[in-house]
Amino acid sequence: MKKIHIKTWGCQMNEYDSSIIFHVLQKKLKYIATKNAEKSDLIILNTCSIREKAQEKLFDQLGRWKKLKHINKKLIIAVGGCVAAQEKKNIYKRAPYVDIIFGPKTIHRLPKIIKKIYKKRKKIINIQSNSLKKYKFYKHHSLKKISEYISIMEGCNKCCSFCIVPHTRGKEISRNPEEILSEANFLANNGTKEIILLGQNVNSYKGKSINKSILKLSNLIKLISKIDQIKRIRFITSNPMEFTDDLIKIYKKVPKLVSYLHLPVQSGSNRILKKMRRAYNISIYKKIIQKLILYRPNIQITSDFIIGFPGETREDFQKTLKLIDEIKFDMSFSFIYSKRPGTPAARLLDSVSLQEKKERLYFLQKKIQKNTKFWSKKMIGTRQKVLVEKFIYKNNIKKLFGKTQNNRTVLFKGSKKLIGKIINVKIKNAHMQTLKGEL
Ligand code: SAH
Ligand code: F3S
Repeated sequence: MKKIHIKTWGCQMNEYDSSIIFHVLQKKLKYIATKNAEKSDLIILNTCSIREKAQEKLFDQLGRWKKLKHINKKLIIAVGGCVAAQEKKNIYKRAPYVDIIFGPKTIHRLPKIIKKIYKKRKKIINIQSNSLKKYKFYKHHSLKKISEYISIMEGCNKCCSFCIVPHTRGKEISRNPEEILSEANFLANNGTKEIILLGQNVNSYKGKSINKSILKLSNLIKLISKIDQIKRIRFITSNPMEFTDDLIKIYKKVPKLVSYLHLPVQSGSNRILKKMRRAYNISIYKKIIQKLILYRPNIQITSDFIIGFPGETREDFQKTLKLIDEIKFDMSFSFIYSKRPGTPAARLLDSVSLQEKKERLYFLQKKIQKNTKFWSKKMIGTRQKVLVEKFIYKNNIKKLFGKTQNNRTVLFKGSKKLIGKIINVKIKNAHMQTLKGEL
């Protein structure tokens, strides 16, 4: 039996894709997984290119694996994911020992490609595909996870000036609702209690049903909520551009949808949002949040921020800080702007020094951390509904691990039979996003 070693960088979508890579190769070519690159016959690196750093890492990693080819002459090295889709044959220029370059949408073709390589030993690039055939091979592992992802769409039709995703993942494609529901039912029958709907832009979901009607994310959430065993529904990542009223109202109609939303705003300055080609302004963003609170008063909001976008002045940055104070974002993924080749923002003059950007990032993250502490502290003494996922060991003590609606981890003592249940836990203590509780 041949062994495969898969390394994954980047978002949840890449994790999901890696899982498909493994299943397709296990099914078609009988590969088995190994954590040890030295002992494998095939190494696959599933890459991310959202920021520059992730991309640089690729060639460092490949350099280390190059040596393994001297030991095992038949070793195949494949590069997939967003850097592969972006750089294509350029990867061969810096790493000529790479055998296969494939994209996020051509995963299902890997068995054929690998067979060809064994026969002819030539290099193969296979990036383009307009289909979602790869999902046919997604097989949920038998681990019976309480919380599971289901990818519902991929790609992006927006054109935010800083973002590489539309180039690497291509146009939006939505999976059809029947396929998603069948996956959700399968998971529910195998012990899953929480489903996280996944996509680069989940709220742009437009799935064509068998009866030809087009379903939106709100319709899909409603359908999934009808599955009895599913107790909670989450989704990531959405954007404020298509956060329509039907989706806002669903927070009232579907109690299984958690009181938590990650809604990336990127900047608090209208001037910068315009340069970023985000099709909303701060007043529209705030209106979305106000409406959400109307339908779900205790909803907790987290966000993404890009710091030091070309031309971001101190005043612009102050506006971002002001927005953080107003919304009291609970958490953020915040990064310094990274210039992505071929994107419109790459042509803009970047006049802010790196030092200044670092200071702004530090300041912003400190502010958000204060909010995280504030919200966590507010939870001390309250009783929270916790979905218990598993046991973990913390300082050698076995504890139950669960999540609150607002995505905080709660650790507490309890028995195995609570796993998979939603139970009341009293919050005794808080450290940032981790809470200690008592049954
Ligand atoms: N679809 C979502 C987010 C997609 S990308 C949205 O519309 O907001 C995920 C996050 O990566 C973004 O929210 C952004 O904060 C970050 N990101 C994307 N491109 C970036 C870049 N060039 N530099 C720094 N951060 C970036
Ligand atoms: Fe990127 Fe904007 Fe789409 S951030 S993923 S281009 S919505």
